[in-house]
Amino acid sequence: MSGTIISPIHDLLNDLHGRLQEERGGEVATYIPELGKADPEWFGVAVATLDGVLYEAGDTEVPFTIQSVSKPFVYALALQDRGMERVLQQVGVEPTGDAFNAVRLEPETGRPYNPMVNAGAIVTSSLVDGADAEARLDRILAGLSAFAGRPLAVDHKVLVSEAATGDRNRALAYLMHGAGSLRCDVDDSLTVYFAQCSTLVTTRDLAVMTATLAGGGVNPITGQQVVSVEAAAGALTVMATCGTYDYAGEWLMRAGLPAKSGVSGGLIAALPSQLGLGVFSPPLDPRGNSVRGVAACQELSGRFGLHLM
Ligand code: DON
Repeated sequence: MSGTIISPIHDLLNDLHGRLQEERGGEVATYIPELGKADPEWFGVAVATLDGVLYEAGDTEVPFTIQSVSKPFVYALALQDRGMERVLQQVGVEPTGDAFNAVRLEPETGRPYNPMVNAGAIVTSSLVDGADAEARLDRILAGLSAFAGRPLAVDHKVLVSEAATGDRNRALAYLMHGAGSLRCDVDDSLTVYFAQCSTLVTTRDLAVMTATLAGGGVNPITGQQVVSVEAAAGALTVMATCGTYDYAGEWLMRAGLPAKSGVSGGLIAALPSQLGLGVFSPPLDPRGNSVRGVAACQELSGRFGLHLM
């Protein structure tokens, strides 16, 4: 059985949503101009359990581009398609403590430090199955859709806006191509990465996608095995160590859950073998994490004793 249910948990989510809606901190990202059009009042919270139950409050059906929250899912697809050893040859798994767009590669190998920063995500999306950029993008869109349990599509306005302002990512891709860690055409790699980031999702999708990782790769609504248990575990691992960039340590201390944030205001957190949490609210703190998202996840973690440690 699946569906949205009304329950004491639902009341608690509504209460939390009502209080955090009043939060006025943070700024909507504008470095990708199309993202600057987001309404700072948008705020959705959704929880998907592994037995297929959804609990939701607020704007959980508003579409927004997934941005960096795509990174753990595409990393899981790359692990699925290539295996861990092959992926590790080109992308490391060490936290950087740097911002998401840092221009920094491992000095010895030229590898990006991890798949959650932009450099690592650009290489990761080049590693999924597919003979060319179009085929890799098809694989990624089909994979993200399987995680969500419904067909997802790219927002072309955001895609154009990303590509027009993506010089830092372009610079990273050239550096990595020169270092040998990015082994496909630079423009092809960016075409796929920008489109991946511009894929439209809802808060409800994020909860289901995250529950799929928490459930060993099985989508709790469709029952589909989207990736292997090992690939899902790999994605959760890098979420725990690197998912919130230069806030990753304090995040794990406070919330105690593998998580990933994105500049459009999405934030996911997973309780392995139990549930996936998705939050969306565009105003970001100085480190690029959704202000209401961080507050909601940390409150839910404390309230339900979800801290893994
Ligand atoms: O590469 C970029 O700038 C965006 N497409 C994604 C960045 C993002 O969401 C980083 N997250 N905090």
